[in-house]
Amino acid sequence: MRKKFLITGGTGFIGSAITKKIAEDHDVIVVDNNQRGLNKRLDKIMDRITLFNFDIRNEQSLIDVSKGVDCIIHAAYVNGTETFYKKPKEIVDIAIKGMLNVLKACEVNEIRELILLSSSEVYHHAKIIPTPEEIPLIIPDIKNPRFSYGGGKIASELMLMSHCKENFDKAIIIRPHNVFGPDMGREHVIPQIIDKINTQKKQNNKVLEIQGDGSETRAFIHIEDFVSGFDFAIKKSQHLDIINIGNDKEIKILELVKIIKRLMYSDCEIKSGKLREGSTTRRCPDISKLKNFGFKANVDLEQSLPEIIQWYSNNN
Ligand SMILES: NC(=O)c1ccc[n+]([C@@H]2O[C@H](COP(=O)([O-])OP(=O)(O)OC[C@H]3O[C@@H](n4cnc5c(N)ncnc54)[C@H](O)[C@@H]3O)[C@@H](O)[C@H]2O)c1
Repeated sequence: MRKKFLITGGTGFIGSAITKKIAEDHDVIVVDNNQRGLNKRLDKIMDRITLFNFDIRNEQSLIDVSKGVDCIIHAAYVNGTETFYKKPKEIVDIAIKGMLNVLKACEVNEIRELILLSSSEVYHHAKIIPTPEEIPLIIPDIKNPRFSYGGGKIASELMLMSHCKENFDKAIIIRPHNVFGPDMGREHVIPQIIDKINTQKKQNNKVLEIQGDGSETRAFIHIEDFVSGFDFAIKKSQHLDIINIGNDKEIKILELVKIIKRLMYSDCEIKSGKLREGSTTRRCPDISKLKNFGFKANVDLEQSLPEIIQWYSNNN
């Protein structure tokens, strides 16, 4: 059945990829203030979607554009680890006001489906790795600005659970884990390593300083696999489900740096640096639920890195 979707954050990295997929079969309205998004990411499908550039904290505008919508996908947020430390007030503000406005728009316009993009950051220092969806969510240090981001997501999840039990056919929470691909923004581990190696080459500097000693881990999922996982999740999930979307292949950051260094023909020496206060030392999702829906990752990290390196080297 053809439906009408409203996607907040739809000109962002993940939002634009989801928009392209959903617009294949449905009507799509995108809302993004382009704080980090770019309309040009949607150039190829602009004739098939409706795009509005405004802040989701504008309640009336959000209510107005979501008339007749069947499902809201709420992806707007301020991403990028560096930003968590720099703009905690704005991050919490967008999380809370944004989510309240999304819920209000659902209520006023009788929208019965809601999909919230939360984050792996709600687990922080998870005691169980790979991490299943059921473990307690924590804010390890309320005074550390880093946790504005994860705290905002925990609050958004809580709002979904408390508001959507009744009056919704389906309200679900998706927790993305380290999604990567070309044009993902620069404030993430993979682009940062690429950018550092490019700078180090230009300056003929032989030392590459990383954050931490490289024993920290992540598990990266390519954007194409993420979109496939997202598609499974929205089609197969039940009301109030919570679903990790990620890859369960954990990799040490040192190993990742060595691979990128080799692919970029860099002869620099890797030096340990300071880890940001509150950084997660180990992260890898348990994706059993997603696999039970039929999901399988198809893109290998190492094989896809040349494409990412090329993109970041050509767009700096
Ligand atoms: N990329 C990842 O690995 C990852 C991991 C975990 C969770 N997530 C979540 O997935 C979602 C998409 O992330 P992304 O990587 O595409 O980030 P992104 O920064 O590329 O996209 C977020 C979009 O939201 C928009 N936005 C921010 N504040 C807004 C506001 N007040 N009003 C309207 N639009 C606003 C930005 O302009 C941007 O286009 C976010 O909710 C993010 O927290 C992403």
